[in-house]
Parts: sequence; structure tokens; C-alpha cells
Amino acid sequence: MTKPAMRVVSGIQPTGDLHLGNLLGAILRWVKMQDEAECLFFLADLHALTVDISPAQLRSSVREMAAALIASGIDPEKSILFAHSAVPAHPELAWILNCTARMGWLSRMTQFKEKSGKNREGVSVGLFDYPVLQAADVLLYHGTHVPVGEDQKQHIELMRDIALKFNNDFDVDLFVAPEPFVGGGTAARVMSLRDGSVKMSKSDPSEASRVNLTDSDEAIAQKIRKAKTDPEPLPDDPALLGTRPEARNLVGIMAALTDRTPAVVLQQYAGQGFGAFKPELTEAAIATIAPLRRRLVELRRDEAALDAILAAGAAKAAALAAPTLLAAYRAVGLKN
Ligand code: TYM
Repeated sequence: MTKPAMRVVSGIQPTGDLHLGNLLGAILRWVKMQDEAECLFFLADLHALTVDISPAQLRSSVREMAAALIASGIDPEKSILFAHSAVPAHPELAWILNCTARMGWLSRMTQFKEKSGKNREGVSVGLFDYPVLQAADVLLYHGTHVPVGEDQKQHIELMRDIALKFNNDFDVDLFVAPEPFVGGGTAARVMSLRDGSVKMSKSDPSEASRVNLTDSDEAIAQKIRKAKTDPEPLPDDPALLGTRPEARNLVGIMAALTDRTPAVVLQQYAGQGFGAFKPELTEAAIATIAPLRRRLVELRRDEAALDAILAAGAAKAAALAAPTLLAAYRAVGLKN
């Protein structure tokens, strides 16, 4: 495969519902990039195995997430959309890269530390090794730009280290070191509605902590109404939100939803309390989410069509991945 000047590659785990953090931090940015470069977007279903998930749940989550991405604007005619388990080159390259990545590098991954917590000895080896598969996901396609939220930045930096070490160890110019492409402002890190110091996440046990793409208008309104805030009015300068994480988060979400900066949002609401701000935030969230949710419901009905889209995407991805995998086998001496 010749190396493209710009190729966008990114993925999402098909676990739980797509939430506002995924949408603002990644998916809506992917949608915009479709017109700027060749894009590959995938469901990281092999990654979903690193935590407890039932086979039936995984099967349905893959289709659900594919439908959610298409509903959000990922166009399978423009972008290659697939589940990475359908392209065996991903785990094959991951094995080779496992022998390049160093234990020390993976031990520093903050996401592993967070997810394993006090149970380091009890979590799966896959959870520890997960970033190496993630590196294979991107390096296979010579991805140059990886649009992700802030929480994935360290994993992309690890990909760069793996790519450069492999090239150096085997004296080849095979892998491109990709760049993390993190959005600006709050979209890079949307926080929980219940606690402004932790990120909005699929794994948060509290449903009230996140707004999901599948939430009804009433549910969205209720979650925003109950979102944690403080008693102060909104200031006129974003710098004054520094010690008010919940207020900063809600202002940032409003900014991302309405394509404005927090400073512009504050110009409108300075001096007002959350009683005035929250109904308008609700309106902005519903204006973005409701049309996507309606499309999602439609798409979810036709499972055969979703499976066909994913199969076509996997075939295209496999064709792009094959030469890179072959070159990696050759570089390490496993093929002539
Ligand atoms: P995942 O499934 O946790 O999240 C998918 C994308 O959503 C972003 N995101 C957020 N952005 C802003 N605020 C938040 N609260 C928030 N929560 C999630 C994530 O940063 C991500 O961009 N390991 C990846 C999936 C993956 C991948 C890859 C990504 C597998 N292989 C290769 C890029 C390239 C993950 O678990 O994302």
C-alpha cells in the first residue's frame, strides 16, 4: 500500500450506549473529517472482550453501535466502516507489535491503572495489552490522524513509540507515527453530569452521569435538570470557571453543541444562574440528539442491512491491511 498524505483512522468500543462525550469528543469530529481525507472507522469489538461482556450483549452492541455511528453521520459510502474482529490482520499485527512494545511502556498507561484499580492481579491480560492492539488498529493503515478524546492521547503516543521502535529495530520504513487529533475545548473531555472531576463514561454505574444517544427528550431534560451545579451565577470570563468544574463542564457542553467558544456562550449568560441556563442547554442537547436518535431507531430495524455495510467495510479494510501485515512479517523474518 502506498502511504497516503493524510489518512484518518479511529475506533470506538461497542459497549454501552453512545453518549455525549463520545459524540462531541470523537464521532461528530469524524463526521466532519469524512470530506477532508480517506477515513477508516471501526468498532473495536475485540477490545470489548477485555472487560466482562456476554456474547449476546456483544453481538447486539456491535450492530447498535454501527447504527449509532451511521445515524450520527458516518457515511459508509464515504468512509470504511467495519468491526475490527472481521479483519484478522488486526490481532495478527498486534502479536508482532507485542514483541516490540515494552512492559514499562504499557505499565505507564493511565487508563489501565484506572480500569484495573486495586485489582491489578485480577484483571485480564487483554486489558493490560489493549493499547498494543489499538496500535495495530492504526499502524495497519498508515493512519496519520487519529481523532479521539483527550483520554486516548496517551495511547496514540504509545503507538508512535511502537512504530518508531519497530522501524528502527528492523531497519525498515514501514510504519507511520500517527498524530493524536484531539478536539479543542470541553469537547476533548466531557465530564460526568454528577461529578465535574470525572469524565463522562459508558462504565459509570450512574445513568444520570451521561446523556445517551438513545435517551428520550424527557430523559435528556431530566438529566440536565438534575446535573450537579453550584449556587453562583455564571461569570463573564471562562477563566473564572477554573474552580467550578461542573459549571465549566456545562458551559463547555453548550459551547460544543452550538459550535461556539465558552467565552461567547458566557457573553450570553453572564450574571444568570443555572435556572435560566439549564433549559437552554436542554434545548441545545435535544436539537442535536433527537434527529440522530430517530435515525438510529430506523437503522436498527434492518439488521441485514447493517451486517452488509459492516461486511463490505471489512472487505475493503482487509485489502488495505494485507500489504502492511505482509511487510511486517517480512521485516521480522517470518516471510520471504
Ligand atoms: P472509547 O470507546 O472509550 O471512546 C470512543 C471515543 O470517544 C472519546 N470519548 C470522549 N471524548 C470526550 N469526552 C469524554 N467523556 C469521552 N469519552 C470517550 C474517546 O476518546 C474515543 O475517541 N480505545 C478506544 C477505542 C479504540 C481506538 C483504536 C481509538 C480502539 N482502537 C484506535 C483510536 C484508534 C476506546 O476505548 O474508545
